Order: sequence, then C-alpha cells, then structure tokens
Amino acid sequence: MARVLLILPTGTYRAGDFVQAASRLGAEVVVASEHRQAMAASMEGRALVVPLDRPEVAAERIVGFAREYPVDAVIAVDEQGVLPAALAAERLGLAHNPAEAAAATRDKVALRHALEAAGVPQPRFRVAGQHDDVSELAVAVGLPCVVKPVSLSASRGVIRADDPAAAAAAGQRVRAILAEAGEDPAGPLLVEGFVPGAEVAVEGLLRNGQLEVLAVFDKPDPLDGPYFEETIYVTPSRLPARTAEALGGLVARGTTALGLREGPVHAEVRVHDGGRLLEVAARSIGGRCSRALRFGAGVSLEEVIVRHALGLGLDGLLAREAGGSGVMMIPIPRSGVLTEVGGVESARAVDGVDDVEITVARGRPVQALPEGDRYLGFIFARSTTPAEVEAALRAAHGRLEIVIQANAG
Ligand SMILES: Nc1ncnc2c1ncn2[C@@H]1O[C@H](COP(=O)(O)OP(=O)(O)O)[C@@H](O)[C@H]1O
Ligand SMILES: [Mg+2]
Repeated sequence: MARVLLILPTGTYRAGDFVQAASRLGAEVVVASEHRQAMAASMEGRALVVPLDRPEVAAERIVGFAREYPVDAVIAVDEQGVLPAALAAERLGLAHNPAEAAAATRDKVALRHALEAAGVPQPRFRVAGQHDDVSELAVAVGLPCVVKPVSLSASRGVIRADDPAAAAAAGQRVRAILAEAGEDPAGPLLVEGFVPGAEVAVEGLLRNGQLEVLAVFDKPDPLDGPYFEETIYVTPSRLPARTAEALGGLVARGTTALGLREGPVHAEVRVHDGGRLLEVAARSIGGRCSRALRFGAGVSLEEVIVRHALGLGLDGLLAREAGGSGVMMIPIPRSGVLTEVGGVESARAVDGVDDVEITVARGRPVQALPEGDRYLGFIFARSTTPAEVEAALRAAHGRLEIVIQANAG
C-alpha cells in the first residue's frame, strides 16, 4: 500500500479533500501538522508533529519518520508546508521542487529577483528596508503603487497608494499588520508599480519541469484597491483563447525562472500589456476553491495532485470538465463579531448554485482587509457558460444577509 504524507498547516480548509483523494487511491495517509489537536479529527492513521516555521527541523522530522515508515509522497496541502515538503522529498529521493525554488515562492522579494533575472514581465519594484523612505520608493516605481509584505498571503497587508504620502502611510500600516501576524515588522517590504486592469488566476501542474495549464480563472470583479479582496473566480476564461494561452505561457516562464519542477502551481497574472506576472505559488488554489474544478470523469484537483506525487497515471485526467464553473470567496464587509448569516438556503436555491458554505462560526470575530486573512465562506456554481456562472454567484451572494456586530470602542 502506498503511503502519502500530507503536511497540514493549522487552519487549512483542505485536509478533508486531500485525505479523501488519497483514500480513493487506496493510499495510507500520514499527517504532519503543528499541533496534535489538528490531527485527531483528520485520520485514524499515523501522525507527526512538525514546526512549519522551521522548515529544516520539520523536514528532518519527516525524514526520521520515513526511515521507520517509508513514504511514497510528501505533499504540502497549503503554502506553509511548501518548503518543508521540498526539503523532505529531496532527502527521501522523491519527486520534488528544489528547496531554493520553493523558498522563492514563499518570499516575494526573492520571487521578484528571480523573475527579474530571467526577464519575466512583472511589476516594477523596489525593496523597502526598515529605514527606507517608502514615499521615495513609490515615486521611483511610479504612482499609483502597491505596498505589500514579503511573507503574508490572501492579500493580507496588500495596499494601493496613489501619492507619496499615502505610500508612506501604507508602509506604516503594513508594518503594523506584520507585527499583528507575528512576523518581523522591521523586515523588508515590497513597493511595486500598480499594474492596472484585468487579472486572472492560473492553475497548473508541473511534471518534470513542464507546466500543464489546468485552468485559467477570470476574476470579474475589478481589483483596483486600495485593498485586494478576492471574490469571484470563473473558468473557463472569457479572454480570447490566444490571450489566455499567452498568460499560461507567461506563468510557465515564471516557473522555469524559479526552477520549480514538480507539483501544483497557482499563479496570478495581470493581463495588461501582454501580461505581468504578480505571483507564483508552489501549491494549488487556496481555501476551498479547488472544489470548483473537476477533471476527466469527475476527478478532484486533490486527486490529480496525489496521483502525480505518487507517480500514478494522469491520462485523460488533466482536462477540465466541459462548461463553466466558479467560486465566490465571500468577503468580510467589515470587522466585528459575526452575528448571523441568513439566507443560506435561499442562496443555495439559485439556479446553477452547487453549494454555499459558511466557514466562520457565529459569534466568532471577523476582520476585513487589509488586516484580515479569512473569508466568510464560499459559494460554488456550475453552468453552461461562464457568464451564467458569474450571474448565479452574484445572485446567491445577494441573497445572503450577513450580520456583523461592530466591536465596542
Ligand atoms: N503590483 C501590483 N499591481 C496591481 N495589483 C497588485 C499588485 N500587487 C498585488 N496586487 C493585487 O493584490 C493581490 C494580492 O497580492 P499578492 O502579491 O498576490 O499577495 P498575496 O500573497 O497576499 O496573494 C493580487 O492578486 C492583485 O490583485
Ligand atoms: Mg496572491
């Protein structure tokens, strides 16, 4: 029986989908996570505790475990496991991304430098050290600009600024967000030129260094800032086929520049001027969004990833099902305490809507961007065309009554 080791960060949405995919393939699952608690719910199988903020230590633990119980694949379920997975797989002789390439996807400055060295189109950028004047750097890259942390995700701390004073203020705010997130507030920040216009997400799978594009998602809500809330993703893209293909090609140049070789890729690209690569991650799409994708005769993205990691065949499994599909990450309209989400049944009843899932419990605190890093939940829709999918998602969202009580003070 094959054995798959899944690295599960605390708070991941995706444990269940990966465990299910592995079980469908008849593989035994081993879970590596930061807390014993997180593992109890996930499986009866073996488990180990690893510190994901110390990738070397985490990788050594995994290697030690694998000496006793050999594993056939190490899979990072989410962003935080990417580097430990690469290090462990390398030492175990399994298909993997080079550690340096994985590390560059976890550090936006390293990513920018690697893309720049290879001449891959991306935003103009400068790195702001603790004592640098962010307003000067903003002028250097050109206004409007985007100020962002190097290490966070889900658009947390990503802020557009239209003039030098706003850029300086954004820099202060990003540093406060870093402190709140437990990261170094004195670390470097990125100041980038704002790339206007449409944005897509590209999902792909790397096999032996070759990128196979699995899906291109349009993001039909304009992402003009000042904060960059993800909302609707719809595939297939309504861009001209040649444009979408070129954007996939741009992502492939990016993965080559970084040295990524194996496994899932999630990238964000602005369409502007032939394409600008915003970000490449060595993982699949986050949150529960992968549920918007089905391959071959109903195979999940997680199953595609586990199959690839185990060296199983993928013939006929890399083509997405016909028709339109999409997901809406339900934004948090303001910070406070979630009192209630009404209208869920009514939203589910919208034609084309597959499911509405609220992932924050009532009574829990919620935080809007740029400080926040979670969504209220997800809406899934499927229909003949992407336009119908988008309409269904909007209609369903319109039926939700989200009640958030403002924090006192
Ligand atoms: N230079 C930029 N120009 C235009 N939009 C940007 C730029 N940088 C970031 N954004 C917007 O902010 C979002 C999040 O930024 P990103 O760098 O991908 O950070 P994260 O890791 O938080 O996803 C992007 O998807 C995009 O919409
Ligand atoms: Mg991103």
